[in-house]
Order: sequence, then structure tokens, then C-alpha cells
Amino acid sequence: MKKILITGGAGFIGSHVVRRFITSHPEYHIVNLDKLTYAGNLLNLKDVEHKPNYRFIKGDIVDAAFIDQLFKTEKFDSVIHLAAESHVDRSISNPLDFVMTNVVGTVNLLNASLKNWKGAYGEHRFYHVSTDEVYGSLGEKGLFTETSAYDPHSPYSASKASSDHFVRSYQDTYGLNTVISNCSNNYGSHHFPEKLIPLAINNIRQNNPIPVYGKGENIRDWLWVEDHARAIDVIFHQAKAGSTFNVGGHNEWTNIDLIRLLCHIMDLKLNRPEGSSEKLITYVTDRAGHDLRYAIDSNKLQKELGWAPSLQFEEGLGKTVDWYLANTDWLNNVTSGNYQFYYQEQYSDR
Ligand code: NAD
Ligand code: TYD
Repeated sequence: MKKILITGGAGFIGSHVVRRFITSHPEYHIVNLDKLTYAGNLLNLKDVEHKPNYRFIKGDIVDAAFIDQLFKTEKFDSVIHLAAESHVDRSISNPLDFVMTNVVGTVNLLNASLKNWKGAYGEHRFYHVSTDEVYGSLGEKGLFTETSAYDPHSPYSASKASSDHFVRSYQDTYGLNTVISNCSNNYGSHHFPEKLIPLAINNIRQNNPIPVYGKGENIRDWLWVEDHARAIDVIFHQAKAGSTFNVGGHNEWTNIDLIRLLCHIMDLKLNRPEGSSEKLITYVTDRAGHDLRYAIDSNKLQKELGWAPSLQFEEGLGKTVDWYLANTDWLNNVTSGNYQFYYQEQYSDR
């Protein structure tokens, strides 16, 4: 039975990837390594935690000695690496946390893979999950392709760009079998309510202001998180060593149009008069260095590996709202304690 290490499996995307691999690949033993930061939550995997082909290990990828020992004892066959600090606003307040986890943590995993797989790199795979934000910002036209130049603007995207470069360098220098995918903004269940969509859902349900940065004209390309997990499955199994794939939804929305759609859906679901949620929209000070537009060209993935997004945005957003309204305990749990402090710090002087 092959043993696959998934890092960051208690987070938003990681939990969907872990669930998919446990259930779709009973031939694998899945080990989920996660530090359980504010963004990691074992409740995200409650439905699958007792599966016989799954195990959780709490640990920090920044701790090189721990990672080295873990690889020695566990003898992983492959790695799917998602653990990261992932929120742009937090990276503006605390860039060093992003350097440590996203850059140093990734290099620790690469080093441990190199050491433990020596002489047999072809039989193992290091899959690094990354973001389209490494490409920087688009103007009104054009799409990011796999050959777009890296041009990160936030400490978050700079740290992810750096980790991508390290992964590629280990392929080129040492012959490690690596794959990288760069995905657009994900949405769906278990998304921590610091990011736009779950934050807005949580605020609307509580009749709190919906903070829209700047004029709300920035554009993001939204992908259903389960479509991303399926892309990771396909790429992990079929991509050539050293290759890169862009993953995206062909689904561009300005933030303000997205929020208006969400308000409309929430009014219907909460039986509120049409237009009542929109009254909560509040324009606030823009994010520093705010990228104008992200949009992905995922033709390579579609043509070479046959992947395509499955859900229309309206349907996916409706399902997402349903999940949050049915899981208010989850929301209340993750927004108690430190979240209040974070929210105060981020939004009080905007
Ligand atoms: P997330 O913040 O929800 O989850 C990150 C997980 O990593 C958490 O469970 C956290 O506990 C864990 N973690 C953080 N630091 C760690 C450390 N030092 N050691 C071990 N575990 C640690 O993030 P996400 O949105 O699920 O993103 C997952 C990955 O996908 C990231 O690499 C991110 O850059 C990438 N990505 C995210 C998006 C998106 O829209 N969210 C889009 C493209 C790519
Ligand atoms: P976010 O979900 O943080 O993802 P990213 O910055 O990685 O794309 O933000 C998505 C967009 O929404 C981005 O343009 C910033 C904007 N935004 C707001 O307008 N208000 C908010 O409260 C947040 C968190 C984000």
C-alpha cells in the first residue's frame, strides 16, 4: 500500500484533497501532517477520520529535525504539499510567518524527500500546490498561462513564488520528480471566514457590514474547491515529472458583482426581503498592493489531462451558502476566540 503524505490537510483545500484521496483511492494510506494553526481544523475531516487508510500527525514543517525524522520513520512514497500561510492580509501584517512556513517549510520537505528517496527519484513524486497570485496582476485583458512571468506583489505571493522556484530547482538540480500546479481563487465548504466569500456569508447571516476593499472592481477567477481537489488528483497521477499546470474556473467576477450575487442568494435562503443584504455592503480602505485582476488559462490541463470545471458559479455559490447555514456550529467555533481579535485588527481602522 503506497503511503502518501498530504501537508496542510486540516485546512480548506487540504481537507477536500484528503477526503478525495481517502475515499477515491483506498489503495493508498494517507497521512495528513498539519500544525493546526488558526486555519487548520480537524472538524473539517470529522466524516472521514475513522477510515482505516487515514492517519493524522500534528507537526510543523518549519521544524527541519522533526521533518527529517518523520520521513525516515514513515517512508512516504510521495508528497502532496498544501501546508501554507495563505491569507494576503495576514502576510501584509506578518511577512516573516510566510517566509518561514511557505519558503523554509517547503525547503525542509524537499530536503527530506531528497534524502529519503535517493537513488529512486522516479518512483516518488513531490507535488507542490501553488497559486496564480505568483504571476502578479493582469490588466483588463489576457490570461495567465504556464509560461507567464512571475511577478508577485504581496508577501504571500512572493513567498509562494519563492517556494515554486525552490521546487523547480530541486527538479533541475537533483532530479527530484516534482510537479507544480497554480490555481485561481477557490470557494466552497470549510473555507476559513477571513477570505472574501465565507467572511461575507458570515457577516450577512449576522447582519454585520460586508467590507468591500476599494471600489470592489478587482477581479478574481473562482473555482469550486472540489474541482480543484479533482485537478490535483488528475495531475498527481498523470503529469510528467517537472511539469506545471494552471488550474482555473474560467469564471471571472468583480468583487462587487460577486457580493451582490451572494446577497441575492442569501436573501432567498434566509427568507429576507430582496435587497436587504445589499444594504450591508460597506466600502472600506483598499488593501495595500491590491492586485487588480487574476484569470487563468487552464487549456493545458483541459487538453493534456482531460480535466474541466464541473459546476456553474451560481450553483456552487448556492451549495456553499447552504453548507454554511447548515454548519453554524462550525462557523461559531472558528470565529470564537482569536478570530475576534484578528477581525478588530484588520477592519477597525479601515
Ligand atoms: P488554509 O490556510 O485554509 O490551510 C492551510 C493549512 O496549513 C492549515 O491547516 C494550517 O494549519 C496548515 N499549516 C500552516 N502552517 C503550517 C506549518 N508550519 N506546518 C504544518 N502545517 C501548517 O489554506 P488553503 O486555502 O487550504 O490553501 C492550501 C494551499 O493551496 C496553500 O498552499 C495555498 O497557497 C494554495 N492555494 C490556495 C488557494 C485558495 O483560493 N485558497 C488558491 C490556490 C492555491
Ligand atoms: P481573498 O478572499 O482574501 O483572496 P485573495 O486576496 O487571495 O484573492 O480576497 C478576494 C478579493 O476580495 C480580493 O480582491 C480582496 C477582496 N476582499 C474584500 O473586498 N473584502 C474583504 O473583507 C476581503 C477579505 C477581501
